[in-house]
Amino acid sequence: MTITLNNPLDMHLHLRDEDMLKTVGPLSSESFSAAIIMPNLVPPVATKEALIAYKERINSVCGSDTFTPYMTLFFKPTYTKEFLESIRDELTAIKLYPAGITTNSEGGLSGFDVDELRMTLDAMSELEIPLCIHGETNGFVMDREAEFVSIYEMLATNFPKLTIIMEHITTKESVAALDKFENLYATITLHHLLITLDDVAGGMLQPHLFCKPIAKRPEDREALRKVALEGHPKVMFGSDSAPHPQHAKEACGCAAGVFTAPIALQVLAELFEEHSTVEKLQDFISNNAQKIYKNIEVPNKVITLEKKPFTIPAKYGEVVPMFAGEVIAYSIV
Ligand code: DOR
Ligand code: ZN
Repeated sequence: MTITLNNPLDMHLHLRDEDMLKTVGPLSSESFSAAIIMPNLVPPVATKEALIAYKERINSVCGSDTFTPYMTLFFKPTYTKEFLESIRDELTAIKLYPAGITTNSEGGLSGFDVDELRMTLDAMSELEIPLCIHGETNGFVMDREAEFVSIYEMLATNFPKLTIIMEHITTKESVAALDKFENLYATITLHHLLITLDDVAGGMLQPHLFCKPIAKRPEDREALRKVALEGHPKVMFGSDSAPHPQHAKEACGCAAGVFTAPIALQVLAELFEEHSTVEKLQDFISNNAQKIYKNIEVPNKVITLEKKPFTIPAKYGEVVPMFAGEVIAYSIV
Protein backbone atom coordinates (compact mmCIF):
# COMPACT_ATOMS: atom_id res chain seq x y z
CA MET A 1 0.00 0.00 0.00
CA THR A 2 1.21 3.52 -0.75
CA ILE A 3 -0.05 6.97 0.23
CA THR A 4 0.73 9.98 -1.91
CA LEU A 5 0.88 13.43 -0.35
CA ASN A 6 1.02 16.59 -2.41
CA ASN A 7 3.07 19.47 -1.06
CA PRO A 8 3.20 18.56 2.64
CA LEU A 9 3.57 21.60 4.87
CA ASP A 10 4.89 21.88 8.41
CA MET A 11 3.22 25.01 9.74
CA HIS A 12 5.31 25.23 12.96
CA LEU A 13 8.97 24.24 12.94
CA HIS A 14 12.12 25.01 14.93
CA LEU A 15 15.28 24.77 12.85
CA ARG A 16 17.69 26.57 15.24
CA ASP A 17 21.00 27.77 13.80
CA GLU A 18 24.61 26.84 13.05
CA ASP A 19 25.49 23.14 13.56
CA MET A 20 22.01 22.21 14.74
CA LEU A 21 20.50 23.84 11.65
CA LYS A 22 22.91 21.83 9.49
CA THR A 23 21.71 18.62 11.15
CA VAL A 24 17.96 19.23 11.23
CA GLY A 25 17.34 21.50 8.20
CA PRO A 26 17.79 18.75 5.58
CA LEU A 27 15.56 16.38 7.60
CA SER A 28 12.64 18.77 7.05
CA SER A 29 13.50 19.78 3.50
CA GLU A 30 13.55 16.09 2.47
CA SER A 31 9.96 15.51 3.61
CA PHE A 32 8.19 18.83 3.35
CA SER A 33 7.54 21.40 0.62
CA ALA A 34 7.72 24.30 3.03
CA ALA A 35 7.55 25.16 6.71
CA ILE A 36 6.79 28.05 9.02
CA ILE A 37 10.10 28.75 10.76
CA MET A 38 9.97 29.83 14.38
CA PRO A 39 11.95 32.96 15.35
CA ASN A 40 13.04 31.99 18.89
CA LEU A 41 16.76 32.09 18.24
CA VAL A 42 19.13 33.83 20.65
CA PRO A 43 18.62 36.74 20.06
CA PRO A 44 15.14 36.36 18.53
CA VAL A 45 14.58 37.18 14.86
CA ALA A 46 13.17 40.69 15.18
CA THR A 47 14.68 42.78 12.38
CA LYS A 48 14.51 42.65 8.61
CA GLU A 49 18.25 42.04 8.37
CA ALA A 50 18.16 39.15 10.85
CA LEU A 51 15.19 37.59 9.07
CA ILE A 52 16.76 37.72 5.62
CA ALA A 53 20.10 36.44 6.88
CA TYR A 54 18.40 33.54 8.71
CA LYS A 55 16.42 32.63 5.59
CA GLU A 56 19.66 32.49 3.62
CA ARG A 57 21.30 30.27 6.22
CA ILE A 58 18.32 27.92 6.05
CA ASN A 59 18.37 27.80 2.25
CA SER A 60 22.07 27.07 2.28
CA VAL A 61 21.67 23.88 4.36
CA CYS A 62 18.77 22.47 2.33
CA GLY A 63 20.92 21.72 -0.70
CA SER A 64 18.98 20.94 -3.84
CA ASP A 65 15.74 20.04 -2.04
CA THR A 66 12.65 21.95 -3.09
CA PHE A 67 11.81 23.65 0.19
CA THR A 68 10.55 27.10 1.13
CA PRO A 69 11.19 28.46 4.61
CA TYR A 70 8.24 30.69 5.49
CA MET A 71 9.85 33.24 7.76
CA THR A 72 8.43 34.71 10.95
CA LEU A 73 9.36 37.61 13.18
CA PHE A 74 9.31 37.54 16.98
CA PHE A 75 6.35 39.72 17.97
CA LYS A 76 6.99 43.17 19.41
CA PRO A 77 4.19 45.66 20.03
CA THR A 78 6.47 48.36 18.60
CA TYR A 79 6.36 47.12 14.99
CA THR A 80 4.89 49.92 12.88
CA LYS A 81 2.91 49.63 9.68
CA GLU A 82 5.80 51.15 7.73
CA PHE A 83 8.20 48.57 9.10
CA LEU A 84 5.82 45.70 8.36
CA GLU A 85 5.22 47.00 4.84
CA SER A 86 8.95 47.10 4.26
CA ILE A 87 9.38 43.46 5.28
CA ARG A 88 6.09 42.04 4.01
CA ASP A 89 7.55 40.27 0.96
CA GLU A 90 10.01 38.35 3.14
CA LEU A 91 7.61 37.62 5.97
CA THR A 92 4.82 35.04 6.28
CA ALA A 93 3.69 35.48 9.89
CA ILE A 94 4.58 36.92 13.29
CA LYS A 95 4.95 34.72 16.36
CA LEU A 96 3.87 36.00 19.74
CA TYR A 97 5.33 34.51 22.91
CA PRO A 98 4.23 35.47 26.40
CA ALA A 99 7.45 36.50 28.22
CA GLY A 100 9.38 33.59 29.70
CA ILE A 101 6.78 30.96 28.84
CA THR A 102 9.10 28.66 26.88
CA THR A 103 12.53 28.28 25.24
CA ASN A 104 14.10 31.68 24.38
CA SER A 105 10.95 33.69 25.01
CA GLU A 106 12.36 36.09 27.61
CA GLY A 107 11.83 39.04 25.25
CA GLY A 108 8.15 38.17 24.77
CA LEU A 109 5.04 40.02 25.84
CA SER A 110 4.45 40.64 29.54
CA GLY A 111 0.78 41.66 29.30
CA PHE A 112 -2.15 41.66 26.90
CA ASP A 113 -3.39 45.26 26.94
CA VAL A 114 -5.45 45.87 23.79
CA ASP A 115 -4.39 49.49 23.52
CA GLU A 116 -0.71 48.57 23.69
CA LEU A 117 -1.17 45.96 20.96
CA ARG A 118 -3.44 47.98 18.71
CA MET A 119 -0.89 49.68 16.47
CA THR A 120 0.87 46.47 15.45
CA LEU A 121 -2.20 44.23 15.31
CA ASP A 122 -4.16 46.77 13.23
CA ALA A 123 -1.25 46.96 10.80
CA MET A 124 -1.03 43.17 10.63
CA SER A 125 -4.79 42.98 9.98
CA GLU A 126 -4.52 45.49 7.17
CA LEU A 127 -1.47 43.86 5.61
CA GLU A 128 -2.97 40.38 6.10
CA ILE A 129 -0.07 39.06 8.15
CA PRO A 130 -1.20 36.16 10.36
CA LEU A 131 -0.42 36.19 14.09
CA CYS A 132 0.80 32.88 15.54
CA ILE A 133 0.51 32.61 19.32
CA HIS A 134 2.04 30.38 21.96
CA GLY A 135 -1.07 30.42 24.14
CA GLU A 136 -0.16 29.67 27.73
CA THR A 137 -0.53 31.73 30.91
CA ASN A 138 1.92 31.26 33.76
CA GLY A 139 -0.70 29.46 35.85
CA PHE A 140 -0.72 25.81 36.95
CA VAL A 141 0.95 23.80 34.21
CA MET A 142 -2.08 21.69 33.27
CA ASP A 143 -4.36 24.76 33.14
CA ARG A 144 -2.15 27.21 31.27
CA GLU A 145 -3.61 26.69 27.84
CA ALA A 146 -7.25 26.58 28.95
CA GLU A 147 -6.66 29.81 30.90
CA PHE A 148 -5.27 31.44 27.78
CA VAL A 149 -8.47 30.84 25.77
CA SER A 150 -9.97 34.05 27.17
CA ILE A 151 -7.00 35.96 25.74
CA TYR A 152 -7.52 34.32 22.35
CA GLU A 153 -11.16 35.37 22.51
CA MET A 154 -10.28 38.93 23.51
CA LEU A 155 -7.87 39.21 20.57
CA ALA A 156 -10.26 37.57 18.11
CA THR A 157 -13.03 39.98 19.12
CA ASN A 158 -10.93 43.13 19.11
CA PHE A 159 -9.12 42.33 15.86
CA PRO A 160 -11.75 40.56 13.75
CA LYS A 161 -9.77 40.94 10.52
CA LEU A 162 -6.61 39.44 11.99
CA THR A 163 -5.88 35.77 11.25
CA ILE A 164 -4.98 34.30 14.64
CA ILE A 165 -3.38 30.89 14.87
CA MET A 166 -3.45 29.07 18.19
CA GLU A 167 -0.18 27.18 17.97
CA HIS A 168 0.23 23.57 19.03
CA ILE A 169 -3.12 23.26 20.79
CA THR A 170 -3.38 20.54 23.43
CA THR A 171 -6.81 20.94 25.04
CA LYS A 172 -10.50 20.42 24.36
CA GLU A 173 -11.03 24.07 25.37
CA SER A 174 -8.88 25.30 22.48
CA VAL A 175 -10.68 22.96 20.08
CA ALA A 176 -14.01 24.42 21.24
CA ALA A 177 -12.76 27.99 20.69
CA LEU A 178 -12.08 27.22 17.01
CA ASP A 179 -15.73 27.10 16.10
CA LYS A 180 -16.66 30.18 18.12
CA PHE A 181 -14.55 32.75 16.30
CA GLU A 182 -14.23 33.00 12.55
CA ASN A 183 -10.67 34.31 12.70
CA LEU A 184 -9.25 31.66 15.07
CA TYR A 185 -7.32 28.72 13.60
CA ALA A 186 -4.92 26.14 15.05
CA THR A 187 -1.91 23.98 14.44
CA ILE A 188 -1.70 20.51 15.97
CA THR A 189 1.51 18.54 16.48
CA LEU A 190 2.11 14.85 15.90
CA HIS A 191 3.09 14.23 19.51
CA HIS A 192 -0.07 15.81 20.95
CA LEU A 193 -2.14 13.51 18.72
CA LEU A 194 -0.30 10.51 20.13
CA ILE A 195 0.55 11.01 23.79
CA THR A 196 -0.96 12.17 27.07
CA LEU A 197 0.73 13.27 30.29
CA ASP A 198 0.79 9.60 31.27
CA ASP A 199 3.31 8.89 28.52
CA VAL A 200 5.53 11.72 29.75
CA ALA A 201 5.41 11.25 33.50
CA GLY A 202 3.08 8.36 34.35
CA GLY A 203 5.90 5.85 34.51
CA MET A 204 9.60 6.57 34.39
CA LEU A 205 10.08 10.16 33.28
CA GLN A 206 10.46 10.46 29.50
CA PRO A 207 12.49 13.57 28.79
CA HIS A 208 12.21 13.18 25.01
CA LEU A 209 8.43 13.60 25.32
CA PHE A 210 8.65 16.69 27.52
CA CYS A 211 7.49 19.81 25.72
CA LYS A 212 5.53 23.02 26.12
CA PRO A 213 2.61 22.94 26.22
CA ILE A 214 2.81 19.67 28.12
CA ALA A 215 0.64 16.79 26.81
CA LYS A 216 -2.70 16.74 28.62
CA ARG A 217 -5.54 14.29 29.38
CA PRO A 218 -7.01 11.50 27.24
CA GLU A 219 -10.15 13.58 26.58
CA ASP A 220 -8.00 16.44 25.32
CA ARG A 221 -6.15 14.10 22.96
CA GLU A 222 -9.54 12.79 21.77
CA ALA A 223 -10.70 16.33 20.94
CA LEU A 224 -7.48 16.99 18.98
CA ARG A 225 -7.73 13.68 17.14
CA LYS A 226 -11.31 14.34 16.17
CA VAL A 227 -10.59 17.63 14.37
CA ALA A 228 -7.30 16.46 12.83
CA LEU A 229 -8.67 13.14 11.56
CA GLU A 230 -11.80 14.69 10.09
CA GLY A 231 -9.67 17.27 8.25
CA HIS A 232 -11.44 20.14 10.04
CA PRO A 233 -10.78 23.16 7.81
CA LYS A 234 -9.50 25.33 10.68
CA VAL A 235 -6.71 23.01 11.77
CA MET A 236 -3.42 22.22 10.09
CA PHE A 237 -0.32 20.23 10.86
CA GLY A 238 2.50 22.03 12.65
CA SER A 239 5.08 19.62 14.05
CA ASP A 240 6.61 21.97 16.64
CA SER A 241 9.60 19.72 16.06
CA ALA A 242 12.01 21.29 18.52
CA PRO A 243 15.49 19.76 18.60
CA HIS A 244 17.73 19.99 21.64
CA PRO A 245 21.01 18.09 22.04
CA GLN A 246 20.74 14.87 24.02
CA HIS A 247 22.66 16.33 26.97
CA ALA A 248 20.11 19.16 27.30
CA LYS A 249 17.19 16.71 27.34
CA GLU A 250 18.67 14.00 29.56
CA ALA A 251 19.54 16.52 32.24
CA CYS A 252 18.49 17.91 35.55
CA GLY A 253 16.47 20.77 34.08
CA CYS A 254 15.28 19.09 30.88
CA ALA A 255 14.79 21.40 27.86
CA ALA A 256 11.26 21.40 26.41
CA GLY A 257 10.77 20.06 22.91
CA VAL A 258 10.03 16.85 20.99
CA PHE A 259 11.98 16.16 17.81
CA THR A 260 9.66 14.67 15.18
CA ALA A 261 10.55 16.26 11.83
CA PRO A 262 12.05 13.15 10.17
CA ILE A 263 9.23 10.79 11.25
CA ALA A 264 6.19 13.04 11.16
CA LEU A 265 4.72 12.10 7.78
CA GLN A 266 5.26 8.38 8.26
CA VAL A 267 3.65 8.33 11.71
CA LEU A 268 0.76 10.55 10.62
CA ALA A 269 0.08 8.10 7.78
CA GLU A 270 -0.09 5.26 10.29
CA LEU A 271 -2.41 7.20 12.62
CA PHE A 272 -4.79 8.23 9.83
CA GLU A 273 -4.78 4.69 8.45
CA GLU A 274 -5.62 3.21 11.86
CA HIS A 275 -8.64 5.50 12.01
CA SER A 276 -9.64 4.82 8.39
CA THR A 277 -9.30 8.50 7.51
CA VAL A 278 -6.30 8.42 5.14
CA GLU A 279 -8.29 10.45 2.61
CA LYS A 280 -8.34 13.37 5.09
CA LEU A 281 -4.57 13.49 5.57
CA GLN A 282 -4.04 15.69 2.51
CA ASP A 283 -6.30 18.37 4.04
CA PHE A 284 -4.52 18.23 7.38
CA ILE A 285 -1.03 18.19 5.92
CA SER A 286 -1.40 20.86 3.23
CA ASN A 287 -4.75 21.95 1.82
CA ASN A 288 -6.14 23.55 4.97
CA ALA A 289 -2.96 25.54 5.56
CA GLN A 290 -3.07 26.92 2.04
CA LYS A 291 -6.58 28.24 2.66
CA ILE A 292 -5.78 29.63 6.10
CA TYR A 293 -2.52 31.32 5.07
CA LYS A 294 -3.63 33.20 2.01
CA ASN A 295 -0.17 34.69 1.63
CA ILE A 296 1.88 31.55 0.88
CA GLU A 297 3.16 30.07 -2.33
CA VAL A 298 3.65 26.33 -2.15
CA PRO A 299 6.43 24.69 -4.14
CA ASN A 300 5.48 21.42 -5.80
CA LYS A 301 6.64 18.26 -4.12
CA VAL A 302 5.07 14.83 -4.11
CA ILE A 303 5.90 12.51 -1.22
CA THR A 304 5.08 8.83 -1.44
CA LEU A 305 4.81 6.75 1.69
CA GLU A 306 4.87 3.00 1.45
CA LYS A 307 3.84 0.43 3.98
CA LYS A 308 7.29 -0.87 4.73
CA PRO A 309 8.75 -1.02 8.26
CA PHE A 310 11.18 1.76 9.14
CA THR A 311 13.43 1.65 12.20
CA ILE A 312 13.78 5.13 13.64
CA PRO A 313 17.45 5.93 14.25
CA ALA A 314 18.65 6.26 17.85
CA LYS A 315 19.93 9.73 17.04
CA TYR A 316 20.17 12.32 14.29
CA GLY A 317 23.45 14.02 15.11
CA GLU A 318 23.13 14.96 18.77
CA VAL A 319 19.33 14.83 18.76
CA VAL A 320 17.22 11.91 19.97
CA PRO A 321 13.99 11.72 17.97
CA MET A 322 10.58 10.71 19.25
CA PHE A 323 10.27 6.89 19.19
CA ALA A 324 14.05 6.44 18.84
CA GLY A 325 14.89 2.85 17.97
CA GLU A 326 11.25 1.83 17.41
CA VAL A 327 9.84 0.36 14.23
CA ILE A 328 7.06 2.25 12.44
CA ALA A 329 4.83 0.97 9.64
CA TYR A 330 5.49 3.50 6.90
CA SER A 331 8.63 4.62 5.08
CA ILE A 332 9.18 7.50 2.69
CA VAL A 333 9.92 6.16 -0.78
O1 DOR B 1 8.47 22.31 23.69
C1 DOR B 1 8.72 23.38 23.16
N1 DOR B 1 9.92 23.63 22.60
N2 DOR B 1 7.79 24.33 23.15
C2 DOR B 1 8.04 25.58 22.72
O2 DOR B 1 7.16 26.40 22.77
C3 DOR B 1 9.38 25.95 22.25
C4 DOR B 1 10.13 24.78 21.81
C5 DOR B 1 11.61 25.07 21.64
O3 DOR B 1 11.94 26.08 21.02
O4 DOR B 1 12.41 24.29 22.12
ZN1 ZN C 1 7.27 25.85 18.86
